[in-house]
Formats: sequence, C-alpha cells, structure tokens
Amino acid sequence: MKKIIPVLCAAALFASCGGEQKTDIVQQNFDSAAAQLKLAIHTVDSIVAARPDSLVAAQGDYPKVFPRSIRKNGSLFLISSKDWTSGFFPGSLWYMYEYTGDTLWKKEAERFTALLEREQFNTKTHDIGFMINDSYGNGYRLTGNPAYKNVIIQAAQTLTGRFNPNVGCILSWNPRRGWQYPVIIDNMMNLELLMNAARLTGNSTFFRVAVSHADTTMKNHFRSDYSTYHVIDYDSLSGKVLHRNTHQGYADASSWARGQAWGLYGYTAMYRETGYPRYLEQAEKIAERIHTFANMPEDLIPYWDFDAPNIPNEPRDVSAATIMASALYELSTLTGTKGPQYKAWADQIIENLTANYLAPLGTNYGFLLLHSVGNLPSDSEVDTPLNYADYYFLEALLRKQNCEK
Ligand code: GLY
Repeated sequence: MKKIIPVLCAAALFASCGGEQKTDIVQQNFDSAAAQLKLAIHTVDSIVAARPDSLVAAQGDYPKVFPRSIRKNGSLFLISSKDWTSGFFPGSLWYMYEYTGDTLWKKEAERFTALLEREQFNTKTHDIGFMINDSYGNGYRLTGNPAYKNVIIQAAQTLTGRFNPNVGCILSWNPRRGWQYPVIIDNMMNLELLMNAARLTGNSTFFRVAVSHADTTMKNHFRSDYSTYHVIDYDSLSGKVLHRNTHQGYADASSWARGQAWGLYGYTAMYRETGYPRYLEQAEKIAERIHTFANMPEDLIPYWDFDAPNIPNEPRDVSAATIMASALYELSTLTGTKGPQYKAWADQIIENLTANYLAPLGTNYGFLLLHSVGNLPSDSEVDTPLNYADYYFLEALLRKQNCEK
C-alpha cells in the first residue's frame, strides 16, 4: 500500500495518538469501501450514459451526478453540485486515494471534484464549506494542485459574504419559517474552509470571521449541560437571540444526535486550527455530555435524537456516529489525559459499525453504511445510507490508522 504524504502541513489533523498496534479493521473497511465505491462510480456512469442529457444543465439546475442516499422507493438519489452534500462523494474518493495511493482513485476524485467548481461562487448557502472543503480541500491537501487552492480561497471569500458583524455569525439559511437570521449548529463545520483559506492567503479576515462565529455559537447555542440547540435565530441588527428552535430534531429542547456531533467535531477542529484552550474545553464538555446521555445505546450508535419519544423503537443515525468517531480520534490527539478514553470510545463505534451496520458488498448502490437519518420530522431519508455517513467513516478510519502508527 503506497502512502500519500499530504502536501499541506496538516500535522494536527492526522496527529499520532501513539503507542498502539495497527489493526486490520482499517484495511478491511478500506478493501470493502474500494469495492463499494467502484460500484457507486459504475452505477452513476451507467445512469449518465443512459441519459447523456442529464449532464446538461436544465432549467437552472445542474447535472445530478453525486450519490446522496436511497429513496423510499429503492432508487438511487443523485444530487447536483448545489446540494449541500455534493462534496462528500468526491471527498470519499480522495480518502480512498489517501489510503491506497492508487491513481485510479485520484483520477476519479479529480473527475467528481471538477463537477463542483461552480459552487465556489454560490452565495446562497453556508454549506459551501462542506461542499468545497471536502472535495477541493482534500484534493489540495493531497496533491497541491494550485487550481484547487484558488477555488478554496474564492469559496472562503464567498462564504464570508454571509457574515454579519452585528450577529457575529455566518448566516446559515436565508430567512424562512419566521426566522430572521437563522444559524444552525451544523454551520460550525463550514469554518474549516475559512481556516484553510486564512492559512493559504495570510488574510486574517477569514480567521476572524471563523473565530467570531465559533465564539458566538459557543455563547448562544449551548445549554448549561453542553447539549446544543439546532437553530438559533438572531435579530440581524441587534444580534439578540430571538428564537431557540429545532428543524431536524424531535423538539426545540431536545438533543438532535447529529447536531451534537457537529458541535463536537466543530470545536475540536477549531482547537486544532487556533490552539485556543476555550475550544478544547468546549469540545471536551460536549464529548462528556454525549457520553452521558441516558439514551445512548450500548453499541454507541445514537438514536436520531437523544430525546426521541419512542426509544428504543426509534431509528439510529449512523451518520451521527461516524462524525463523532472521527471527531473523537482527533480530540484524542489534542487533549491530555483523556486521550485514551476518547480513542477507546471511537474504536468501539468503528468496531460496532463494522460488525453490524455495513451494507453487504455489491448492494445499496455502493454506499458503505446502512441506517442513517437525514430529516425525520420531514419524513426524509429515514433509515437509509447517506453519503456523509460514509465520508466521515473513511475519515475516522484514516484518523484511527494515524493514531496507531
Ligand atoms: N447540515 C444538515 C444536516 O446535518 O442534516
């Protein structure tokens, strides 16, 4: 297995936890992922070959070429570049290249990454961080392609256009549902794009916007027990909190599982990027909260909401588990004495996912993991594979490997 040496200094991203034997659960999962992702690529290419017109933008939409999930009727849900999840499939292909060193994966990653290029100018979404950082960000880290660097910088510039200094946050969704300035916890995940751009350009505006967003979110999104609300709506002039709501969780006061995971991952990443102790403290407090939820199942794969009313008869959300595992591996490298505890927790998640949640090889259009939940209150993507569950699974496996070197 040829190893790829990341071009950027991402030492902290994949820092070593030290001292443990490499296990082959990582190899085993990457071998399966190779088979599944080849199936996914073949499936997409067959669909496009059968309908070449689908590659032509129609009615203002863009070609639907990125696998996102499986519809209720069993068909593959393909999305275009403007969907918030479009970066995850190319990102998974980049992780395949990172692990295997096989140029086949590089070529496929480049091919799918290129289809996202226009999103660098997309002013309509905060998710440009997910879209561009997972595709172009990983691509630049692994290849140093200067064209990728330019896309990252432009995308960060576009994202900062959604920052309002009165609020101190980047706007997540344009006003809707009576919200004036909604900011969702998920938005913490878009800050890595800004930190990348700050490093690449030396432009401190990117850094300041990211820190402001993280600080304001820390102040307003979290309850006293460090669980997080999903949506905080702000007054765009005074910056005052107007509403504390949910959109994808069970209730405003409940703890939507993926939201907790985004918070954990977001503050871990911000500590890696800034070295500010307050972010490490926040990540550790969130980890502690997640770990102590009474409704956390024994196998550590959360129900879709920790307060869902019919637990244990509620769907699990594997995507929340993979995001948590990836964050915990990283946190284990950044913290002091709690490192082994976080790593053991992440290891358990990976072992249980491998034992009980993998899609059988050759099925499910090439998705890796079953049993995620996208948006249960909208009855959308309930108990299905999701491309971001797979992306963070591969990332977690890479981080595990680096921990055990
Ligand atoms: N960012 C949207 C979600 O987590 O579903």
